[in-house]
Amino acid sequence: MVRCAAKLVSPFLGLWLLLCSCWCPGSAELRAPPDKIGLSTTQGSDGLMGVYDGESLVFEESHWFIINMIKLVWNYGLQFFRMHMWVEDVLDKFMRIYRYQSHDYAFTSVEKMLHALGGNDFLGMLNLTLLETLQKAGFSEKFLNEMVVPVMRVNYGQSLDTNGFVGAVSLAGAESGLWAIEGGNKLACSGLLQASKSNLISGSVMYIEEKIRTKQTGGPTKMYEVVYQAGSETYSDFYDIVLVATPMNRKMSNITFLNFDPPIDEFHQHYQHIVTTLVKGQLNSSIFSNRAIDNFGLTSVLTTDHPGMFFNSIAIVSPVREQANPEPSTDGTHVWKIFSQETLTKEQILKLFLSYDYAVTKPWLAYPYYKPPEKCPSIILHDRLYYLNGIEFAASAMEMSAIAAHNAALLAYHRWNGHTDMIDQEDLYEKLKTEL
Ligand SMILES: *[C@@H]1O[C@H](CO)[C@@H](O)[C@H](O)[C@H]1NC(C)=O
Ligand SMILES: *[C@@H]1O[C@H](CO)[C@@H](O)[C@H](O)[C@H]1NC(C)=O
Ligand SMILES: *[C@@H]1O[C@H](CO)[C@@H](O)[C@H](O)[C@H]1NC(C)=O
Repeated sequence: MVRCAAKLVSPFLGLWLLLCSCWCPGSAELRAPPDKIGLSTTQGSDGLMGVYDGESLVFEESHWFIINMIKLVWNYGLQFFRMHMWVEDVLDKFMRIYRYQSHDYAFTSVEKMLHALGGNDFLGMLNLTLLETLQKAGFSEKFLNEMVVPVMRVNYGQSLDTNGFVGAVSLAGAESGLWAIEGGNKLACSGLLQASKSNLISGSVMYIEEKIRTKQTGGPTKMYEVVYQAGSETYSDFYDIVLVATPMNRKMSNITFLNFDPPIDEFHQHYQHIVTTLVKGQLNSSIFSNRAIDNFGLTSVLTTDHPGMFFNSIAIVSPVREQANPEPSTDGTHVWKIFSQETLTKEQILKLFLSYDYAVTKPWLAYPYYKPPEKCPSIILHDRLYYLNGIEFAASAMEMSAIAAHNAALLAYHRWNGHTDMIDQEDLYEKLKTEL
């Protein structure tokens, strides 16, 4: 029941590169280096980014670091650097989770986890919109519209009305230093599955019900019966502990929890509908800039909130394998990935492209629809029944899912063994500091 959601991380500004070391929300397996499961990493390609407001490019990245800096200071004063410091401050605290988890501490709710990381400040970020959060921190409307909105649109298909915490994660994803797994991020999922020596049964879970079973040794025990469909057959198995690792939204995973009292009622989670369109074709870059088409140079264009804007972002898709000498495109065509709220019409695609060979469309429910004040769904659904995806309502990203999975595994283990001193501990930061 593991859902491998490869979340997109924008190949945004390479600009923060020199400012400091970075944290990478796109790289879920970072703390468990992929080489442990025989994988290697590849750097994202260093493309150039522009921001389009419906009429022209309001910002355009250059190959020259110093030029980018001058442009940013010219346009936004020092807000860009202040933003960087704001994001860093959130991430510094967020990184404490790896320390807690390496000492095997677990949390029974996303809120308790966030509180242990950054206190009431962190919890407060779930209650405020990103707009409120950043206005309070003194950022200007121009900066928010031209720099922050485009990042939110490409990463989460939403704007400044998301919660402040997912905003910080999204902006962190705009920092450089992101990497991907050579061959594709999905290899992390298959690699981890193999390393865990689990037995994978492919099927769709239909029902989960608690039942009394008499084991061969010992008396009657409570177990969960999981009924699932594989092909046209229906099967069932009994488990001591069950972890649900798929969004509990009936359109994605329609699991019925039979005869639970009180009922398990976590199905009101609203996910954002987003459309990914992959187009192989030649971009008509003259809609963005007057430069000659073969001299356009940008590999991604983000957009501001603008009535009539029919796409959120458009970017060249880089191959999952690092090529020693990537073949330059001779005919001017590339594979482009477009995010939009609605399915693009042929006319809309032809507005963006001079010509195209094919277009593939994938509508999906990619991440939560954020609407603060945010209440994260429960981790503990029932005695030994856990739910991982609630963390997406704080922020949805591969790294967040990995943290939620590690937490649920620790939590299930500690609760099974009665290790209450390892659960929901306050002041962990101070406690572990003195342990150093
Ligand atoms: C966030 O809002 C909820 C109500 O929606 C409230 O119960 C909680 O105390 C608030 N938390 C903080 C840290 O402001
Ligand atoms: C979910 O499953 C139930 C039966 O288990 C069915 O009645 C319902 O239509 C399904 N909902 C969706 C959205 O597929
Ligand atoms: C390319 O876009 C420009 C600006 O929107 C437009 O004037 C021109 O007709 C387009 N070219 C083609 C071949 O569609």
